[in-house]
Amino acid sequence: MAAKNLPPVWNKMAKHAMLPETTHDERARYNFLASLNKHLAHVSQGNQMAFDKRVEPDFKKDHGRGFTTREEVKEAMKKDPHYQAWSALRRCTMEMRQQAGRSLVLRQAEDLKEKAESLNKGKKTLILDKECQPPPYLLAVDNHLMPGSYHTEVIEGDVSAAANYDSGVFVTTAGLLGKFNDGGGKAISHWMKTTHSEFKPKRILDIGCGMGHNVLPIAMAYPEAEIIAIDTGAPMLRYGHARAMDLGIKNVTFMQVEASQTPFEDESFDWIQTTMFLHETGGKSIYKIMEEIYRMLKPGGITLHIEQPQYTDEMSLFEQFIRDWDAYYNSEPFWSKMHDIMPDELMTKSGFNKEDFMQIGVKAINDLDDGKTKADEPEDHGRSPVWNVFGAWKH
Ligand SMILES: C[S@@+](CC[C@H](N)C(=O)[O-])C[C@H]1O[C@@H](n2cnc3c(N)ncnc32)[C@H](O)[C@@H]1O
Repeated sequence: MAAKNLPPVWNKMAKHAMLPETTHDERARYNFLASLNKHLAHVSQGNQMAFDKRVEPDFKKDHGRGFTTREEVKEAMKKDPHYQAWSALRRCTMEMRQQAGRSLVLRQAEDLKEKAESLNKGKKTLILDKECQPPPYLLAVDNHLMPGSYHTEVIEGDVSAAANYDSGVFVTTAGLLGKFNDGGGKAISHWMKTTHSEFKPKRILDIGCGMGHNVLPIAMAYPEAEIIAIDTGAPMLRYGHARAMDLGIKNVTFMQVEASQTPFEDESFDWIQTTMFLHETGGKSIYKIMEEIYRMLKPGGITLHIEQPQYTDEMSLFEQFIRDWDAYYNSEPFWSKMHDIMPDELMTKSGFNKEDFMQIGVKAINDLDDGKTKADEPEDHGRSPVWNVFGAWKH
């Protein structure tokens, strides 16, 4: 009998030529970690109970007032035994997931590189630039504990960073992103097709495309459009392009370009998309990147950004604190700062009109959980069955 609350197993992931080989034990390790991760998302409800029953009452007794910032909540929660155990276990699952993925891709790094080379050979839709450097804020950290982040190459022509990301992101999200890890891209293209069927973009830019998980559904939804997908990580682009070739998606050009200084002309794109990208940019860069987006967008065009919800005054300090876990313990140094920025201000500072700003919830489409994820289910580590999106049309 299928266990109701277990995440789907790794074997259900869609296969393609670039996906690394896994042994029985490696798959078992991934499945165990995905289940542990999902379990931790559920027992996280105990953190709220600890806060309500112990931490907040004790703080009020000691200080004669309630909490005023999420940092105060953090300092108080750090002393709570439930939170300590939950947080330590969550950190361990993240470390074990990286260790599991990294070890399996390193033993086949040469094979993966050769597969990518053979799929990419002679194609004009992969444009790498040795002069393009990741920005300093990306070089400074191993993003979400990924050894070497997105750009490090252990051999020439390496794709192992992307192979690790692709095979293991299933674990971190407990399968919530779907068979191709493309839930965000599927959701946004479905939203666009259904709510703006009159919109016929000819040229689309995806910024911080990674290995292209979420741009490919957009490319499939608009097969006549020219899609450009940019990133600074060469391993991501090599792997992403090879994966797209294997999946038969030919209208995406993967380019190694830094987002705040692109070579593209003014007003040259109809749609500029980012997915789970802005929270990884630095404090000043996010503004530069949004200005660049405004510059590149055609009048009548749209820009959309899929991110976790911002920390507004309406969000409780406890929720802000628990959402901030990634900033404290999962090597996401800009997470906190980015979620404090008000997206309407970010966009109006870059040139967009305030009245054109929009913030929407876009229904997630997950082809991996057989419709099990319902809109009223508790969120898994902040990943909800509705994707949070902000953006604006340009007039
Ligand atoms: C979390 S990944 C998201 C990948 C992809 N959008 C997706 O939905 O799967 C963020 C990506 O942004 C890239 N990135 C970060 N800062 C960048 C910048 N300034 N210019 C270009 N790419 C950048 C990283 O290399 C990484 O691949």
